[in-house]
Amino acid sequence: MSDHAPPEPFSAADVEAALAGFLVPRDPVLDAIARASAAAGLPAIAVAEPLGRLLSVLGLAVGARRILEIGTLGGSGAVWLARGLAPGGRIVSLELDADRAALARRSLAHAGLDGTVEVVTGAALDWLDAAIARGEPPFDLVFIDADKERSREYLARSVALSRPGTLIVVDNVVREGRVADAGCPDAGVRGIRRMMEWIAGRPDLAASVIQTVDAKGHDGFLLAVVRGDDGVRTG
Ligand code: DHB
Ligand code: MG
Repeated sequence: MSDHAPPEPFSAADVEAALAGFLVPRDPVLDAIARASAAAGLPAIAVAEPLGRLLSVLGLAVGARRILEIGTLGGSGAVWLARGLAPGGRIVSLELDADRAALARRSLAHAGLDGTVEVVTGAALDWLDAAIARGEPPFDLVFIDADKERSREYLARSVALSRPGTLIVVDNVVREGRVADAGCPDAGVRGIRRMMEWIAGRPDLAASVIQTVDAKGHDGFLLAVVRGDDGVRTG
């Protein structure tokens, strides 16, 4: 028996910091974006470091050369994605708010990533519909982290811009557990539930959710792979 008495209960924030200390290399670009975002008064809703690092890991795992991000905010998600991008790869990041887009562009240019990440200002659905109409080549990885009300619309367009094997990640699908509440009046939660119902009728998607608990509370992200078959496996 060890006589080690752990210090009193570790909070999710403690664990997040400890895991980040082990797993997340310090990145001056991300530190600068965190400072610029706070100085500009952006809401503190950027992805937590371990999840950001996971985006890099997933990009590397799928060999991503073309990445789509819906919801740029201050640009930190785009940097995490860039850290998992194959050499010569490109990222398109969509942002409704012109001030946020400008801030992200400045940060990305300062980091030498302006040739890698294109930040597009405007309503994401407009860009997505135009991209579908012009036959934009498929993306390898998609990260949806925008207004939750339109989650289903964003996911459907993302699937239209995918190929078999494309990995789609959707942030914030648990929302303190409220995704389980069929009567929840919150528009964002309702949007997530609509997206889930849509997925349930799409055998060409294989999807699951990992629940997370971190400094921002209880949430989770959805991982979906676009299948090359009709989803019916007999073997
Ligand atoms: C909110 C949005 C996010 O993308 C997030 O990660 C956390 C919170 C929000 O709008 O409340
Ligand atoms: Mg988010």
